[in-house]
Amino acid sequence: MKTKVCIIGGGPSGLLLSQLLHLKGIDNILLEKHSREYVLSRIRAGVLEHGFAALMREAQCGERMDKEGEIHHGFIISHDGKQDRVDLHMYSGGNSVIVYGQTELTRDLYDARSRMNGAVIHNAEDVQPHDLMSDKPYVTYRAGDEIVRIDCEYIIGADGFHGVSRKSIPKTVLREYEKVYPFGWLGVLSRTKPVSSELIYAKHERGFALCSLRSQVLSRYYIQVPLTDKVEEWTDAAFWDELKRRLSNEVASRLITGPSIEKSIAPLRSFVAEPMRYGNLFLAGDAAHIVPPTGARGLNSAASDIYYLYHAMVDHYLKGDDSGLENYSAKALARVWKAQRFSWWMTMMLHTFPDSLDYDKQLQRIDLAYLFSSEAAQRSLAENYVGLPF
Ligand code: APR
Ligand code: PHB
Repeated sequence: MKTKVCIIGGGPSGLLLSQLLHLKGIDNILLEKHSREYVLSRIRAGVLEHGFAALMREAQCGERMDKEGEIHHGFIISHDGKQDRVDLHMYSGGNSVIVYGQTELTRDLYDARSRMNGAVIHNAEDVQPHDLMSDKPYVTYRAGDEIVRIDCEYIIGADGFHGVSRKSIPKTVLREYEKVYPFGWLGVLSRTKPVSSELIYAKHERGFALCSLRSQVLSRYYIQVPLTDKVEEWTDAAFWDELKRRLSNEVASRLITGPSIEKSIAPLRSFVAEPMRYGNLFLAGDAAHIVPPTGARGLNSAASDIYYLYHAMVDHYLKGDDSGLENYSAKALARVWKAQRFSWWMTMMLHTFPDSLDYDKQLQRIDLAYLFSSEAAQRSLAENYVGLPF
């Protein structure tokens, strides 16, 4: 097979780029290791920044997101017995975020790719990029007993943190930065009315908690847990009890509980790989960087990679201008690191750290006190949360 761009990975990053390139007439093939059903069974975060939403619309995939997604103009931080609201709309110059599950967004992207007869190959095993430094790179994969070769001009590594793309960059070239936090988030999805119409980020000495939602009948809640905890050890009743203890009495008394329909523990990690280009391989999304979920930056951090790559490919193929491709890594990383800083800061401010000094605890307190006493600080939070410009 032959194509211009071979995209490895059918998560939101790979699908969105595939769709955008297709609409500009740039031929591409997407290889996904798993089945569509498997990809769509993964529960992920659900906050979209306005720039990501704009890209979805440009990809002609924004209809259901605009109909079913909820626009949120602010969120609550619960701390020290207080409930303070961050007014995103006011402090970000009129922007906001859309609450719309990433699973639904991925479904919309798959549907669009099917509608347009996009080349999406599922269950592609042993995917391997080759000859990255040559102008004739290629990708091989296994379908049953057959090894299939795809000749292309560019390869996009959008295969997530555990994918093969980043690993094919030589260790002498790749530099990895990583910070692992000493806790995880235990998340529960339940078919219950959300306790609050806006998200509540709760700082509590027993540990962080988050009240989020997918719709007015589907809630998503999280609590900070030690990394040694096993999800099987957490009964639904124990989860609801612990969540209530970390919320204000007023919110806890309104919380509607129910059976969990999904329950999992995710570790928290900050990670960046540099550079994001090696020869004709370009990394995008989780393949190159991971943030802890506290600032809702995961998907949004991938959005700017896709935006830059999309425009770089369009400039290359339609205008003969290679500057976007040449600058991709530096440009993408500049924004990636800003999302890293923001996610790290939100994480440090709101969690309970096992070995923290009294001094550290005072700093956390003063960080929040300063935030809600300073318009400039709230402006900074708001502009980061709704998404810095691409
Ligand atoms: N070959 C082909 N596909 C692969 C391979 C491989 N060797 N390894 C992984 N994949 C696929 C995975 O099955 C997955 O569907 O690549 C896809 C990567 O998708 P994501 O992990 O969702 O990464 P990305 O598309 O960059 O999305 C970023 O998703 O993980 C969240 O928090 C993250 O919200 C962020 C967003
Ligand atoms: C979620 O709804 O899953 C969610 C929302 C906000 C976050 C993280 C996760 O910061």
